[in-house]
Amino acid sequence: MMDRGASIYVAGHRGLAGSAIVKQLQKQGYRNLLLRTHAELDLIDQAAVRAFFEREQPEYVFLAAAKVGGIVANSTYPAQFIYDNLAIEANVLHESWRAGVKRLLFLGSSCIYPRDCPQPMKEEYLLTGPLEATNRPYAIAKIAGIEICWSYNRQYGTRFVAAMPTNLYGPGDSYDLNNSHVLPALIRKTHEAKTAGLAQVTVWGTGAPMREFLYSEDMAEACVYLLNLPDVEFGALFNDSAPPLINIGFGEDLSVAELARTVARIVGFSGELCFDRSKPDGTPKKLLDSGRIQSLGWRARTRFDEGIAAAYKDFLNRYAS
Ligand SMILES: NC(=O)c1ccc[n+]([C@@H]2O[C@H](COP(=O)([O-])OP(=O)(O)OC[C@H]3O[C@@H](n4cnc5c(N)ncnc54)[C@H](OP(=O)(O)O)[C@@H]3O)[C@@H](O)[C@H]2O)c1
Repeated sequence: MMDRGASIYVAGHRGLAGSAIVKQLQKQGYRNLLLRTHAELDLIDQAAVRAFFEREQPEYVFLAAAKVGGIVANSTYPAQFIYDNLAIEANVLHESWRAGVKRLLFLGSSCIYPRDCPQPMKEEYLLTGPLEATNRPYAIAKIAGIEICWSYNRQYGTRFVAAMPTNLYGPGDSYDLNNSHVLPALIRKTHEAKTAGLAQVTVWGTGAPMREFLYSEDMAEACVYLLNLPDVEFGALFNDSAPPLINIGFGEDLSVAELARTVARIVGFSGELCFDRSKPDGTPKKLLDSGRIQSLGWRARTRFDEGIAAAYKDFLNRYAS
């Protein structure tokens, strides 16, 4: 288990996931956190990453740095999505092994699972079917990251675990409409409709698809919980027959229509929600099977409406002015 004084590197500490991990570690009394901004340490730069690990010798690593974005960004910059993510993973995982890091958690995403995956999605469904085309370069880079973790564990005896959270939301999210995910985009659109006095907000599709969302601080709690598992439980995550993969979900999904209604209620938008049926719905359901992490004793606790209220407060503080 991680000592309160252990040196812990959180890569990507200013992002949605990384900032929540830092907050969770600080809340639990960890006081020796190693943090570098993108400008201070470009994780694509192999020599800089090597020098950093040789100098700082972190004992634990949370890899939450990645080139991340929604469907527009993924289809506009596919080369950057595959190159940046492969380079970040290869550099950080390799140097973590060289530096003798004791435990590492690599963050991926649920888009690693096949497009037509049976629901809920279990860890063993990895690589059992074709991927969704719109974010395939990103998904393949993340699958490569899982494979690197597994290969290093097998060949070098490292303890690298790959955690796959469902869609996240929470403080620190991006509300840039060119680069954001569905939930922050909806928060922003609904807020702007309210302030402009508009009568309607248009939501893409029929509203019927079911989606799962996890509050970023719950995800962070799960990540710290995993790296802190006692040796026996932690060791059981690693074997030669399956990758060291573990889903982190809320455990329940909701329809896009319910999602839009909850956002409208919390934002205080009293106009109408219109569903633009000419726009595609995407896959009808996307829910992770979180049975594995639940069986280890962790479960998400922030209700969707509570989490949305906290995310909206953060949006108002950072963006609305
Ligand atoms: N957001 C979600 O819904 C979600 C869901 C499931 C899984 N995840 C996973 O969580 C991880 C982090 O996602 P996020 O949503 O927190 O993304 P994010 O908010 O965009 O944060 C990513 C962080 O990585 C940093 N970064 C990117 N390229 C870098 C580089 N070359 N060198 C150093 N730092 C770099 C970014 O810094 P700059 O901004 O300065 O570039 C940023 O601070 C990803 O692996 C993602 O797959 C996210």
